[in-house]
Formats: sequence, structure tokens, C-alpha cells
Amino acid sequence: TTVEWEAESYDMGGHDTYMHKEISEQADAVDRVLRGRIDDRFSTVHLGGLNLDAREARGVRRVKILGCGTSYHAGLIGAQLIEELARIPADAEPASEFRYRNPVVDPDTLYVAVSQSGETYDVLAAVQELKRKGARVLGVVNVVGSAIARETDGGVYVHAGPEVCVVSTKCFTNTVVSFALLALHLGRIRDLSVADGKRIIEGLRKLPAQISEILATEDDIAKLAQEYAGAGSMMFIGRVRGYPVALEASLKLKEISYIHAEAYPASELKHGPLALIEPALPTVAIVPDDELLEKNRAALEEIKARSGPILAVAHAPQEKADHTIVVPKNETELDSILMGIPLQLLAYHTALALGRDIDKPRNLAKSVTVE
Ligand code: G6P
Repeated sequence: TTVEWEAESYDMGGHDTYMHKEISEQADAVDRVLRGRIDDRFSTVHLGGLNLDAREARGVRRVKILGCGTSYHAGLIGAQLIEELARIPADAEPASEFRYRNPVVDPDTLYVAVSQSGETYDVLAAVQELKRKGARVLGVVNVVGSAIARETDGGVYVHAGPEVCVVSTKCFTNTVVSFALLALHLGRIRDLSVADGKRIIEGLRKLPAQISEILATEDDIAKLAQEYAGAGSMMFIGRVRGYPVALEASLKLKEISYIHAEAYPASELKHGPLALIEPALPTVAIVPDDELLEKNRAALEEIKARSGPILAVAHAPQEKADHTIVVPKNETELDSILMGIPLQLLAYHTALALGRDIDKPRNLAKSVTVE
């Protein structure tokens, strides 16, 4: 069965597209995913549907996250959050790759299936294969009662509300926040200190207001989009926490604007893509103020030396960049949640400038329920 939101009865609330509406709803959506889950007494979070007790959580030796498209990208950030906060080795893989390579299923690994719709066939098939082999599988799902929610042993509901636009925005953000909650929960059962738990909780609480702050700069981002809409191709770079942000921003741009875009780890530039850099290829660089700032600045210099235009997303204006979108600083571990948001708007306004059918991009479906 397919669970579908009733799109017709779903009001656009004065927005011209669902995508714009959904981008605008993100502060409220994040507020909702946090609501009722924070436990200040123990500096942790309660996840009612997880179905994983403390002893089981301590026994987890690895976390493997599976998803498709934007949900896979959210899973990449989720894996980093779990490694950073819970110190459990974690990684993410496209669900379809996983299921076709006869994976080694390990009883000490916690598998996490990520899906907005809860109906993506490749993810569902991966879950079923894992269950058949006796693995424990959790879901990080938006649609309550969907197939993946039903097939998993427990999980975290993303609470983003209905998402109608084919490309995912608010659901991506809420999925990443859900992973931050899961990582904090696992961390506090393991070695994350009370002080660090408190620090992350304070960071989480700041997110809705910071998202509103970013959304309030939409007019400036729209002007930048006008400037870059003529590009035939765009490069997105980021390092460690910034890399999944670059991947997702590049996916968003190609999905709705049809501009070719690719994402690279900033450290890989010199191993190939630097050959492409020239005045006609703009680079969007994710440059958080973290321990890798100097390394990222060096990459900007390499690009500038080849006359490549640079748009940075950073916590302060970047000297080598032609433009910087400045985003508010949160805790380092949570910064990637915010850095993708202006790039949703960049993709949106680029597609708008090009007259694209934003809510229904050509050749794509909201959920792919066939192989
Ligand atoms: C389709 C959509 C993408 C989405 C992916 C996974 O390809 O066009 O926007 O990210 O499916 O969907 P899910 O519902 O599993 O998150």
C-alpha cells in the first residue's frame, strides 16, 4: 500500500510553489521534531519509538545507514553525527547499492533505513533482506504508518509534516535533526559527557531561530541566483561535515534547474576537478568555521588562482570568494544542518529564474515505489 498526502486539499498558504512553502516551514518543522523529546535532567533525548534499550544500545559496534537520493545525503550527515557524538563507527550507503552487493550482515551492526515517504522500493527491499538475515533495523521516516515504518523494528519519526514538492527540503532538514537526536541519545548512553550533551541540546534549541534568520536573507540569495543562473555547470565543494552539504546542494540544483552540477570533497580538487576550473565554472564552497577552515581557505585560493568564480557559504565573509552567504554559527557538530538551507533557496531561485517547473521537475517522481 502507498500512503499519500492529499495534495489537492493541501493549501499552498500564499506561496507560489510547494517547494517555497516547504522551505519556509523549516523553523516550525525543526521545532516540532524537538518537541517533547529533550530531557534536560540527564542532558539527553527520549525517542519513544526507538525500541532499543540501553544495554542493546551499548552493544552496537557499527551503524550502517541506508537511503536513496536526498535521504541518503541526510544519512551521510547522520553517520558523521553518530561517529562524532556517540563514537560508534558509522557510514551511509545508497540502499540499492547495498542490496545488490550481497552485503555481509553483522549482528552487532545497527542498520538504519532513511526515507521521507517510507515507500521507496530500494530501501524497503534492503530492509526486508536485512530482516530476513536477522539484523536489527531502525527507520528514520516521515510518513507515519508507511511500509518502511511498519517493517522496521522501531525508529524515529521525522515529523516534518506533508512534503508535496518532488524534491525534498524540510524533510531533509528534519531528518538530519532526527539523526542528531539519535546520535545524542546513543552518545549519552555511551561516552558523551553531560556537559557535551548540554552543549548539543542548547545548539539544537537555537536551530529554529537561526533557520528563520537564514530565511530572512532570501532576497539577497535570489539576487545571487540571478547572477549564477546563466552557468552551464557548477561545482560544489566541502570537507568532512561540508561534503554531504555540497552533495545535497548540488543534487537540489540539478533536480530543479537542470544545470549540471557536481560535488567533490574539497581535498579531492587537486586530484582531477581542478582541471575544469575557469571563469565559466562557478564553485559553491561550504566553509564552516571549524578545525578545517584554513584547509578550506587554501582550496579557495587554488580556485581563485585559476579565475574560478566562488560563492562561499560560511560563518564570516571569505576574502577569496566573490560572494559569501553568511550563516549563523551553532555548535560545530550541528553546523551542517544550517549550511544547506541557503543553498535550497539558491537552487529554488535559480530554477525560478530559468522558468522551470519547480514542484514537478521533468523525469522525477516524489517516491519511486518500483525497482
Ligand atoms: C525520489 C525523490 C527524491 C527522494 C528519493 C528518496 O528520487 O525524487 O527527492 O530523495 O526518492 O525518497 P524517500 O521518500 O525514500 O526519502
